[in-house]
Amino acid sequence: MKIRLVIFYVVLFAISGCIYAGNGEKEMKLVIEKGLGRAIVQAKRMACSLLERKERLPRSIGKQGQLSTSDARAWTSGFFPGLLWYLYEVSGDDSLRIYADDYTRRLEKQQYTTDNHDVGFMLYCSYGNGWRLTKDESYKKVLLQGAKSLSTRFRPTVGCIRSWNRKPWQYAVIIDNMMNLELLMWASKNSDNSQFASIARSHADVTMKNHFREDYSCYHVVSYDTISGRPEQKCTYQGYADDSDWSRGQAWALYGYTMMYRETKKQEYLEQAVRIAHFLMGHPQMPEDKIPYWDFDDPDIPNTPRDASAAAIMASALVELSQYVNELFSNRCLLFAKEQLKALTSPAYLAEPGTNCNFVLKHSVSNKPKGTEVDKPLTYADYYYVEALLRYKQIVLKEK
Ligand code: GLY
Repeated sequence: MKIRLVIFYVVLFAISGCIYAGNGEKEMKLVIEKGLGRAIVQAKRMACSLLERKERLPRSIGKQGQLSTSDARAWTSGFFPGLLWYLYEVSGDDSLRIYADDYTRRLEKQQYTTDNHDVGFMLYCSYGNGWRLTKDESYKKVLLQGAKSLSTRFRPTVGCIRSWNRKPWQYAVIIDNMMNLELLMWASKNSDNSQFASIARSHADVTMKNHFREDYSCYHVVSYDTISGRPEQKCTYQGYADDSDWSRGQAWALYGYTMMYRETKKQEYLEQAVRIAHFLMGHPQMPEDKIPYWDFDDPDIPNTPRDASAAAIMASALVELSQYVNELFSNRCLLFAKEQLKALTSPAYLAEPGTNCNFVLKHSVSNKPKGTEVDKPLTYADYYYVEALLRYKQIVLKEK
């Protein structure tokens, strides 16, 4: 009798688990459908509005509430073409492919950029997605030249790619730079030059050693002494304080080490990504809806802006990380990413059609200390939000 009762409860538990999972899946399908649908409407309107301004790419909203754009040299220039490629991928809508190609080619000259590290962001999001989806050889040529240009910023004495030439630093490396390594890993696989991968690995190894604190949070900027190759200063440029946890920086770190594990299968990178994920998901200042404040250490919390871009980058990284870890941790990553995507797809963050100067998400922060783009939409928030939705759809729901 007792055994029958135990079996009854085990079966009941399993069935209710399946029903719960089924409902969760249904809910996420609706979230994804809504988010991607809205992104398509907004991105088409944006693409149409700038079609004749051939040099310009969307960036944010300016002080007077107008659309602010940049030329192709801005670090943000590749995100809008990348967004168009993702939306073409998910919809098969040919008008999006035509827009994506048009906006991608606006960045062509950036393949020769050697005065900053952002060439990886710019070209891999735009030309990289274009190449992945079309295999157009002209895109490949730009990407390979871009990787060569980026590599010129590597110095063996330091072991890292130099991010900025800005004073007062001798050799500034910012955590964001982890994101540029994806272009180098791609170039290594798509050419006969294995140097690209060696540079990327060295950068990731040295950054792991010098950028992180004991709790696996990270500094924004580490500047190196160019003679000894050792760190000369650890500080911030966009965060609240040198030793604070600037949210987007933590998200770049999580994404960067997850991506480097995918590309190299080096166990230390996975361990680093897992530690960063633990740090972020368990952060005592993480709000209930899981959209981080722009900096976790701003003393004005909770009366300080959120950063939807940090949440979108984090969600995208967590969905990927969930594939590489044990089931328990994988479920935790997915649950967290799901909460973030649900919040971002709610009216609090998702723009109504035709509003928000045609950006998809509201409420991001670019540089609060400098008062630039604070509590505004940002083109990179849109890019990583759509990437995260797409990853969830393809990886978790196993849909095309
Ligand atoms: N890479 C610059 C930023 O995250 O704002």
